[in-house]
Amino acid sequence: MKNIIITGGAGFIGSHVVRLFVNKYPEYNIINLDKLTYAGNLANLKDIETKANYIFVKADICDYDTIMELMKKHNVDGIIHLAAESHVDRSIKDPFTFARTNVMGTLTLLQAAKTYWESLPEKYDGKRFYHISTDEVYGALELTHPDGIEPPFTTTASSAEHHLAYGEKFFLETTKYNPHSPYSASKASSDHFVRAFHDTYGMPVIVTNCSNNYGPYQFPEKLIPLFINNIRHRKPLPVYGKGENVRDWLYVEDHARAIDVIFHNGKTADTYNIGGFNEWKNIDIIKVVINTVDRLLGRKEGEDMDLITYVTDRAGHDLRYAIDSSKLQRELGWEPSLQFEEGIEKTVKWYLENQEWLDNITSGDYEKYYDSMYKGR
Ligand code: NAD
Ligand code: TYD
Repeated sequence: MKNIIITGGAGFIGSHVVRLFVNKYPEYNIINLDKLTYAGNLANLKDIETKANYIFVKADICDYDTIMELMKKHNVDGIIHLAAESHVDRSIKDPFTFARTNVMGTLTLLQAAKTYWESLPEKYDGKRFYHISTDEVYGALELTHPDGIEPPFTTTASSAEHHLAYGEKFFLETTKYNPHSPYSASKASSDHFVRAFHDTYGMPVIVTNCSNNYGPYQFPEKLIPLFINNIRHRKPLPVYGKGENVRDWLYVEDHARAIDVIFHNGKTADTYNIGGFNEWKNIDIIKVVINTVDRLLGRKEGEDMDLITYVTDRAGHDLRYAIDSSKLQRELGWEPSLQFEEGIEKTVKWYLENQEWLDNITSGDYEKYYDSMYKGR
């Protein structure tokens, strides 16, 4: 029996984590705490909203009193913290919101958990504060492979070994933090607070740093859903810079499975990197997405290539992210379940079959967001 608060559960990754926990652990009480910002959407959890072991609470992670009240009322013994401002482009325009939610919000949750757990006779026994972070805190890697081979690489274990054999640089759990964007700086700061609560007060924390996620229910401000939606409507595809930046993509359900494994079996006070050894240059992934959308819409494959439009680069655009998640594989036996080709096919299909979900999100304020981010770029 466990009572767990999952923060940010109506967002992209959080909704997959809530769904997994609610379905897999009927004996747990899952409390989804979310403020429902532009990125939070209860439609993401329609299929589980009436389950007996699920409660939704609309609240801000900066609201200490409400969190305290919830901890007491439900005798909470675990927190899985995903709520955050998550989009780099927004952080460039409005860094304060990121400091407020990502830094002060995380600190508020930590302080409430500390006060509540320290008031119990068993203190921190059987408790866990699990903080979900990003690989972006590590900064950026060089683009070129030492022997001249460039991404895309595939997701097989042998290609991971190939990478390592060639001595290519990855982010390791021991890599020094070096964040560049206001988003990654705010996440780095929150990671430091989480670890400080372990080192100072003995709180049983755990931190994971994951690479870029893709899959159903991602807000269409991020590369893959934005481009699927634009291709469908034959709108220009704004590629930042030369499209040479490299990201390491993981299917969102694989991230949720990793969170389940680490929440239950991870070592207290430890850090685990999560990723799929699946690096792609933006321009290459964009071509795969165009071909897939065209084919699934019954258009001629590749006929929408001319939507590609190179625009002014993102300020401080990190060149390459690449995660070495072999510690997680070695110590806890997790590995990605999907090959990338399969994942992208499932993802594009989902967005095309769930047009109503996309249309609801892209009505209203979305147009204003789009104009402010892309007009004159
Ligand atoms: P998202 O933007 O889709 O969802 C964030 C959720 O947090 C939303 O439901 C929003 O309503 C909620 N939220 C925001 N501010 C809040 C506040 N003050 N109080 C309560 N709720 C609030 O984000 P996501 O992509 O699902 O990312 C979830 C977590 O995973 C974040 O911590 C992010 O840093 C991390 N992460 C994301 C990725 C990725 O590729 N998306 C990769 C690695 C790590
Ligand atoms: P994004 O999905 O915003 O994730 P992150 O910045 O956290 O990695 O962007 C992924 C990559 O795609 C990143 O290198 C920026 C690039 N990009 C574009 O080229 N055009 C776009 O319109 C967006 C949103 C992103």
